[in-house]
Amino acid sequence: MDTYITGTTVKRLREAKGLTQLQLAEKIGVTAKAVSKWETAKGLPDISLIEPLSQTLGVSVMELMSGETVINRNASSNLLRSKLYVCPVCGNIIHTTGEVVISCCGIALPPLEAEEADGEHTISIESVEDERFITVEHEMSKKHFISFIAYVTTDKVQFIKLYPEGNAETRIQLRGRGCLYVYCNKHGLMKKRV
Ligand SMILES: [Fe+2]
Repeated sequence: MDTYITGTTVKRLREAKGLTQLQLAEKIGVTAKAVSKWETAKGLPDISLIEPLSQTLGVSVMELMSGETVINRNASSNLLRSKLYVCPVCGNIIHTTGEVVISCCGIALPPLEAEEADGEHTISIESVEDERFITVEHEMSKKHFISFIAYVTTDKVQFIKLYPEGNAETRIQLRGRGCLYVYCNKHGLMKKRV
């Protein structure tokens, strides 16, 4: 059964910090035996210790609880390596340029994996003056609709929110090479390179 913090996470982070069980224990005001118990899954730290524990181990509370350490390799923030997250409960849309551990409405969100737009989500792009007219062939009922369109280039992200009973279309400035994303509430994220 999963616990809210695993012993292997505490041990891995403690060792990465070069701390003994006793040193970690002293920093957060518990005994070395308590730390040993956490690491061998014979006990769990009290919730009031989560913040001091995460601070001492040099990670965020989310990282400590998820067991995933965030290491950002996209330091130059190339937007083409952006990640998109959508909360299935409240519909919150989150855009990040680097690695993060995200939770919304009490659930951890994985980054969305975009698939090439398929026949049920055909994206067409038509030039209109200096803009492009984007149309997605898709129904727009309350149960099944395109909830946003995003266009991402190396230095710009444009988001257009769409609503059921509207049209699955928008005008957008497409400058430079990039990736057009459309998000269907049922089928997830689709992409088309431009
Ligand atoms: Fe769909």
